[in-house]
Amino acid sequence: MESKGEIDLQKHAKDIVNNLAVIFRSAQIHDAANVAVVSSINKFTPMVNRLIKAEGAISIELVGEYFFVNGSRVKFPSEYIVSFEFLANEFTNRGLGSITFSDSIDVNDMQTLVKTFITSISAPEPLEALMEGMQNSERITLGKIRIQKDDEDVEVDARMAVKKTYFNAVSFTKGVMKKMSSGEKVNVKRAKRVVQSMVDQLLGEHELLLGMTAIKDYDDYTYHHSVNVSILSIALGQKLGFPRKMLLDLGLAALFHDIGKLDIPPEVLNKPAELSEEEWGTIKRHPFWGVKAILDIRGIDRSSITAAIVAFEHHIHHDNTGYPKRQTAAERDLFSKIVSIVDQYDGMTSARVYSRTPLTPDRALKLMLSRAGSQLDPILMKFYINLIGVYPTGSLVMLNTKELGLVYGSTDMPNRPKVLVIMDSNGQKVDGYLVDLSRKTKDGRYPRAILRTMDPNKYRINLAEYML
Ligand SMILES: [Fe+2]
Ligand SMILES: [Fe+2]
Repeated sequence: MESKGEIDLQKHAKDIVNNLAVIFRSAQIHDAANVAVVSSINKFTPMVNRLIKAEGAISIELVGEYFFVNGSRVKFPSEYIVSFEFLANEFTNRGLGSITFSDSIDVNDMQTLVKTFITSISAPEPLEALMEGMQNSERITLGKIRIQKDDEDVEVDARMAVKKTYFNAVSFTKGVMKKMSSGEKVNVKRAKRVVQSMVDQLLGEHELLLGMTAIKDYDDYTYHHSVNVSILSIALGQKLGFPRKMLLDLGLAALFHDIGKLDIPPEVLNKPAELSEEEWGTIKRHPFWGVKAILDIRGIDRSSITAAIVAFEHHIHHDNTGYPKRQTAAERDLFSKIVSIVDQYDGMTSARVYSRTPLTPDRALKLMLSRAGSQLDPILMKFYINLIGVYPTGSLVMLNTKELGLVYGSTDMPNRPKVLVIMDSNGQKVDGYLVDLSRKTKDGRYPRAILRTMDPNKYRINLAEYML
């Protein structure tokens, strides 16, 4: 029965808007008590009341140039165009954004509305006059026109800011490493500012910046990797309840964890084939070189000195395996434990020059979970899984509707994230539309669910293209 109400709403929304326009229009020519007005009111009220029964309330809202009835946009046939435009104008001229009918209405309610609506236009403040005229009505409420940006604009702005922060951090890291390898001194102040903007964005728009870490650049691997590790470490620190100052230090240490790689000859670092034992030996020295490079940074202070410790310890495992080899199994710094988890994750999920195919996020997590207690700190690993979720951002998923999409953000339900659909059920590429899998339809069903995760490499899908 309820689903019938929903179909009714879709079908009748255009008639409701059209009828309301007709009522106001004839009331402009005649007056509210005129036969023509009353007869159109008599057509309107039963229609609205029937839908209120099914929907609880009916709200007619003008957003931009479109009408929405209970949140869904009203599509109307061309013969209604004149009356829709008329009504939109009348709303706009009064600053009126919405009319909501929250209980069954009768002819009197409507006549009050019509009278107030018509007379309000000659008042100095039409909306105020309208609201005042309707304040005794319990069944009809009016809303102001929304002049602020709609959700889409706000979303676009937030994404732009996040994109800027992310790429700013990447180009900064690139710049620092290039400068240092040519012997130039760099200052920690700028690095701190870069980390600061990441911390602040994570404290605000959590999801968006985390989502950016799904971007793994093949050519600029080290720079993207440094930024990704920094973002994910800060997010993990946030999960652990670190105060802001501590997040800044953690983010800085994470950003510089691989800075020692600038001393690895590029032909070894970017070798497209299996490394020789000697070449591995060189790679394994980057923790030492990292310490050296960090201590060389101008303005480094007591708090940011942890960066040197992290650079040194990030390949030492929980069970003291890994490298560099140490005489005694001294406990690693908490920041090192965090960075080593995030470092493994980002490494595993990235395509590298030596062309090992990257793991899908869920497979990487599975493998890492099997290392919890040996290579990785088991407790932090639990927090990390919790952070990344069952379906990490950037996972390619097949839905039960046969649509293919990318996990775009989390919801309150770990197995029902937000998904950006990139291929429709016919296998056709689409522009990308966002669906929230945690959202039910009015009849309490979930219209979509994740069937399984897919390997993006098989589909030659460029994540970056969609995340940006
Ligand atoms: Fe490293
Ligand atoms: Fe690393």
